[in-house]
Amino acid sequence: MYWHIEMLMCGIIAYSGFREATEVILEGLRRLEYRGYDSAGLGAINGKGIELRKCVGRITNLNELITQKPVSSSTAIGHTRWATHGPPNLENCHPHCDATGRLAIVHNGVIENYKLLKNRLLDLGHKFTSDTDTEILAHLIGHFYDALPASEDKLLIAVKKALAEVDGTYGIAVIHADEPGRIIGARRGSPLVVGLGEGENFLGSDVSAMVSFTRDVIYLNDLDVVDINDSSYKISTLHTTKVTRQKSRVDWDAGDAEKGEFPHFMLKEIFEQPTSLRNVMRGRLNWDHGDAKLGGLQEVKLSQVKRILLLGCGTALHAGMMAEYVIEELSGVPVETDFSSEFRYRNSPVDQGTLVFVISQSGETVDTLAAMREVQRKGVKAYGLCNVVGSTIARESDGGVYLHAGPEIGVAATKSFTSQATALVLIGLALGRTRSLSAREGSELLAELSRLPENVEKVLNTSEAIKKVALRYKDSQSMLFLGRLANYPIAMEGALKLKEISYIHAEAYPAAELKHGVIALVSPETPSLIIATRDGVYDKNRSTIQEIKARSGQVIALANEGDSDITETVDSSILVPETHPLLQPIVNVVALQLFAYYTAVALGRDVDKPRNLAKSVTVE
Ligand code: M6R
Repeated sequence: MYWHIEMLMCGIIAYSGFREATEVILEGLRRLEYRGYDSAGLGAINGKGIELRKCVGRITNLNELITQKPVSSSTAIGHTRWATHGPPNLENCHPHCDATGRLAIVHNGVIENYKLLKNRLLDLGHKFTSDTDTEILAHLIGHFYDALPASEDKLLIAVKKALAEVDGTYGIAVIHADEPGRIIGARRGSPLVVGLGEGENFLGSDVSAMVSFTRDVIYLNDLDVVDINDSSYKISTLHTTKVTRQKSRVDWDAGDAEKGEFPHFMLKEIFEQPTSLRNVMRGRLNWDHGDAKLGGLQEVKLSQVKRILLLGCGTALHAGMMAEYVIEELSGVPVETDFSSEFRYRNSPVDQGTLVFVISQSGETVDTLAAMREVQRKGVKAYGLCNVVGSTIARESDGGVYLHAGPEIGVAATKSFTSQATALVLIGLALGRTRSLSAREGSELLAELSRLPENVEKVLNTSEAIKKVALRYKDSQSMLFLGRLANYPIAMEGALKLKEISYIHAEAYPAAELKHGVIALVSPETPSLIIATRDGVYDKNRSTIQEIKARSGQVIALANEGDSDITETVDSSILVPETHPLLQPIVNVVALQLFAYYTAVALGRDVDKPRNLAKSVTVE
């Protein structure tokens, strides 16, 4: 049951071809850095042996190292690491070599039976220099390689023999100095993609690693083993000699994964939201019937759904929590959300009447993947809501809805959230239309949905005003985020964004919970940001504002434009256009993304790569 296994959150790139391989590796690592940025390294075949360059920290350090000590090669492998086992030092940095130093490997994943394998190799006289399980795998492959006669296909056979003994997860790329030009890759539980070029081929942990060079890719399946050189590729599995896998064309290019004129990916992605929202709705609004049409759910009998279960982590979970209110409102179908990480270990009942969605931008989050497999294990279908095409969740789910948000590079999720939330509104609309939601009500929602990009644009146009508010509160040690109903998850998302990139402590509560304990935190030093846009609980929020003011707390209100009743009573306001109450949370969150962004920038934080984090959380 390998879905209970941890995975490392690292990035892999490997290249064989006519270009200077180290340059390709550096470019690929630069694009993969969002997956982890504790240490980085590359290994290149130089005609005599394998040359390694490793450094602690960012890819720029590796770049400098290679400028000082260049390596010329046409075949190389590279790795950027998010440390889980062993500190981020030079010894633990990938690539790792076998006992001869002529074989090198980069690896994402965890070899669970590494102790057993290590003891066996120690008995055979092997010596290890790192704390990593990867070095053990390198030695094991080298051990088999050296034992094989020259007449055999040594590297491929050695890799397969070693992997047959491994319990755990891996995405690997292996090179050997005696077989220049060749790279063997394999995956189990950790993604690996083959990039196909003219006179060159690539391996990468995701397509962003190679998208500057090719958009023609093959997503490998678990247990696949691939053998590439500059002009050919051959895919087999651990147990068979040849399999065919479908080629795909990546629908975005390198430019989409560049910052362009923006100082940070996060800001670029916040500003891309009018476009990403149009993309998630494109072709899905059924104007004739006031309905939504979602191709990936065609086979689901929406009228027979008894319950919805939404699973995700972090921001993706918040999108589900917001949708819980919206879907229940539109359709009356009970909705439950859960942390994927909790669900996977609970014995939560799911049955054929439960429509399950797993929500994940990356489609690789290990807890969400495990939760999905747990649902499927119980004989119930699980549908995905993913952004990354060809990701594991997208491939293993029983269908679903792609977000089409384009690459999201900033570690803080922004455009993926609004796309997830919008896709879930469409699902709520489709469910509602099989029940008591009238075509007229559906059409009204569609009309407001089609204005959503414009409304988000209006928020973006007020970014300077939001920045001023952020600068006023940037030195706070702690902040409260309050909201009611569907704006409570938005408060949670606002607090998460602030914590994640500015490192200011922030807590989110349903506004009415304040009186049950949290109000003790209210003081002039701990500002409260309350979402008080016009909806059915508007008056309740105004009372909460008064309660905070009565205790000398500072209040920042997120309110609708022109709402002087609110702006006159609070210390600062962030104003957003008014829209349909079920869509207002999506507009509101954009303002909170900007608030967190400008706070973090003012504090000099590394916005796109906040400390301790990585974009895809492929570790438990
Ligand atoms: O790729 P996923 O959507 O599955 O990622 C889930 C969370 O790790 C992610 O949303 C995380 O909370 C964000 N970095 C928050 O900004």
